[in-house]
Amino acid sequence: MTQLLLCLAAVCVVVNADVRLPQYTKYGKNLVLGGGVLMDDNAHVWSRIVDMAGGKAKARIGVISAASDTPATSAKYYVDLLVNNYTALEATFIPVTVDDVAKNSDPNVVKLIKQQTGFFISGGDQMRLVQAYMMAGNIPSPALQAIKDQYNGGAVISGSSAGTAILTAGPMVTGGSSWDALRYGAQESLTHSHDLTYRKAGGFGIYPEYLLDTHFSNRGREGRMIRLLSDTRHMSNGVNYGLGVSENTALVVTHVGTNNELGEVFGELGVTFFDVSKSYTDPAERYYSLRNVFVSYLTEGDSINMKTRNVTFSPNKTPLLGNEGYDHALTSNDIFFGEGSHHRKTEFLRVAASLFDARKDTMTFGDTHLTHPQFRVTMSKTGTDTEGYVERHGDFHSDTHSYKNMYVEIGEI
Ligand SMILES: *[C@@H]1O[C@H](CO)[C@@H](O)[C@H](O)[C@H]1NC(C)=O
Ligand SMILES: *[C@@H]1O[C@H](CO)[C@@H](O)[C@H](O)[C@H]1NC(C)=O
Repeated sequence: MTQLLLCLAAVCVVVNADVRLPQYTKYGKNLVLGGGVLMDDNAHVWSRIVDMAGGKAKARIGVISAASDTPATSAKYYVDLLVNNYTALEATFIPVTVDDVAKNSDPNVVKLIKQQTGFFISGGDQMRLVQAYMMAGNIPSPALQAIKDQYNGGAVISGSSAGTAILTAGPMVTGGSSWDALRYGAQESLTHSHDLTYRKAGGFGIYPEYLLDTHFSNRGREGRMIRLLSDTRHMSNGVNYGLGVSENTALVVTHVGTNNELGEVFGELGVTFFDVSKSYTDPAERYYSLRNVFVSYLTEGDSINMKTRNVTFSPNKTPLLGNEGYDHALTSNDIFFGEGSHHRKTEFLRVAASLFDARKDTMTFGDTHLTHPQFRVTMSKTGTDTEGYVERHGDFHSDTHSYKNMYVEIGEI
């Protein structure tokens, strides 16, 4: 450990530089981006969090539950789960909450944070995390700064739902549904009840290159992601890439900030990636339109280099080209309908999977259920780097489909 003496305006403090936890060698800076509704029996994800925090009987995990309206109760649940079921050495409630914001500057809390080898940020409302952990002028509190320092030294930061959304530096989504997002655009405060809202100053700024959203396919959030990316990409903290994590699923990201930064999908459903870097709107259209969006969907065992966005499909999957199960792709009259389950794909996923599983079609579409205007999402698989993969389980809904670089455009019908 190297100690540096920093003197600023006649105040000197000792700063520990180079504080690397043992797991840093294996994982670098690392994150577990959970999509919400992380079931307590999802051993793939929970064990992975404990492993990345240093492993069995070594992991000390700080539970950050300030997004909840009952933080202490919520923390107790995760503390018990991590210690009793998943063999963490310790799990500890980090007592910074909206009702006790002063704790974010308490030296004892900072000391407690510095003892942790990992963190779990639970769900609720991401604005409560902002209120509890950020100071005026969007400056991180000493508690948040301590969390970031631990992260830089190899402590895993895992999140679920709001606990994932908060990690972004770019515009942070705070609410809204897909059709309303397409109709009215991204807004900083609510005008209509289902408006797409976001916090312009972003979240904790821990994972800067992606816009992050959760409960993703389950709530048909594909439209709101595309609109938020496209409305904010030219802002100073705007980004061209988004990732939407479905429920009971996580993207595990290792070696963050290096050329080997790898995202791997764990859990029940999948992670949807969006690239709007080459997108443009058609000025002749009456309502919102966007062309040239690329969408990838990865499921358990697939991985993606987060820097180059090169995808590697799980060895358990086989290419769909030449092995399609059907002649024709499906369409939808409610493309953003969510509420799928393991046994039934949600609409966007169903239509996209059917396109890759169809021998005779290269394009298909799904329309919004709401009208005035009614939007159409057109999907195509003719791109040069577009591929679909599958792991068969017996029928279309239980088959696990993945694909990369599907071409998507949205416009009024
Ligand atoms: C977690 O541990 C508790 C107490 O030992 C047990 O009752 C519960 O079934 C366990 N849950 C899981 C998902 O293993
Ligand atoms: C992308 O990943 C594939 C599959 O793992 C690999 O064969 C290929 O070399 C990679 N391409 C680049 C540009 O890294």
